[in-house]
Amino acid sequence: MNNTFPDGFLWGGAMAANQVEGAWQEDGKGVSTSDMLPNGIFGNVVARHAGQHSIKDVAIDFYHRYPEDIALFAEMGFTCLRVSIAWTRIFPQGDETTPNEAGLAWYDNLFDEMLRHNIQPMVTLSHYEMPWGLVENYGGWGNRDVITFFERYARTVFTRYQHKVKLWLTFNEINMSLHAPLTGVGLQDGCSKAEIYQAIHHQLVASGLAVNALHDIIPDAKIGNMLLGGLTYPLSCKPEDVFAALQDNRQWQFFGDVQCRGAYPGYMQRFFRENDITLHIEPQDHDALRHTVDFISFSYYMTGCVTADAELVEKMRGNILDMVPNPHLESSEWGWQIDPVGLRTLLNVLRDRYQKPLFIVENGLGAQDTPDHEGRIHDHYRISYLNDHLIQVREAIADGVELMGYTSWGPIDLISASKAEVGKRYGFIYVDLQQDGSGTLARSRKESFYWYKGIIASNGALLKA
Ligand code: BG6
Repeated sequence: MNNTFPDGFLWGGAMAANQVEGAWQEDGKGVSTSDMLPNGIFGNVVARHAGQHSIKDVAIDFYHRYPEDIALFAEMGFTCLRVSIAWTRIFPQGDETTPNEAGLAWYDNLFDEMLRHNIQPMVTLSHYEMPWGLVENYGGWGNRDVITFFERYARTVFTRYQHKVKLWLTFNEINMSLHAPLTGVGLQDGCSKAEIYQAIHHQLVASGLAVNALHDIIPDAKIGNMLLGGLTYPLSCKPEDVFAALQDNRQWQFFGDVQCRGAYPGYMQRFFRENDITLHIEPQDHDALRHTVDFISFSYYMTGCVTADAELVEKMRGNILDMVPNPHLESSEWGWQIDPVGLRTLLNVLRDRYQKPLFIVENGLGAQDTPDHEGRIHDHYRISYLNDHLIQVREAIADGVELMGYTSWGPIDLISASKAEVGKRYGFIYVDLQQDGSGTLARSRKESFYWYKGIIASNGALLKA
């Protein structure tokens, strides 16, 4: 078997504006949903006032330090870097008709810096944040007007960066709205399942309109959706468990089905009926949904199991979504079950289902790193996690999967999304920052930095099977 990846395979890392940039009120930026969730996407909304500190306000200060960070990514040999645009830097409240020039200019500089280092930008339009103004004044994605505001934002950035950015993503982990509605669709506590699916419908329509706009404005660019690749196994081979797993997988596949096939799948009719959900769909929405994505991107961290046995679910329930733990797998310090083979399975499942090119835009190990007496980090656990996953990626390519690239999550330590933790580190680059905000923010190379550099330089040949 060929032990390298295909020619032109894109290697790099991925991050999100609200987890790295900081500068939360600089250059005219508005307040976002992420700013209102200082304790992470599963925390409570906190009214922000002067003098109150959130770790995300400064984060790792990428806003001011990006030239240094991009130089380090270039040193590792990155050919691609996934970033997101903070919508609030461009339209601070969300409903303005004129964009904020200072915000647009900052991203111009960022993309120029990447291109100077031959790093291709991949840009997510909305990664776990939206203008708080749209939540307060419009009720988030529950309101159809937000479709128009989003399309304006998308067209603005497509037009502005048309010569610099050729790879785009719509909504980060669009299926996560089912578990974190405020972050996903701007709906506040107490919203019903019907309201969540209506808001999701608006977001899916907006996603179709963004695909259409991109094809209009930058014909040589490509745009993908972004799914949380939440592959679920049946806990046993009991037919009921197998069917439960099929249904569970449909929770995330629903989003892929709409974004890749251009219409609601049949199985959702029964789901809506049984959950008393009647979607309000305008005739033109069907046209918007028909603009399907060019490729599928997804995050992959873990798998889980489901069983049809309700008692067993109660007994075994893990802390992640509704899944029960897999007895055959080990877990990370955060209880995320580590499953490299699952990544090969998922790649094949996605390929078989959609026949579109794929892109792994997040994968990695959140772990605590302890510097030795000389300040060095020996993160062999991270190296082994990534090595084992990449081996399976190579297998999937040999299986016939068309894979455009791989961007590992958090190539530099950043603020975690779930609970805004600093100690849950993913990076090849260590950032001197503690949870109370102390630290110099100095960057240093971990052992995995040199390892990833070798993997990229050898186009995967140095992976250890
Ligand atoms: C994905 C998100 O869910 O997982 C990222 O797209 C997030 O924003 C990542 O950071 C890892 O999750 P966490 O909670 O460990 O940061």
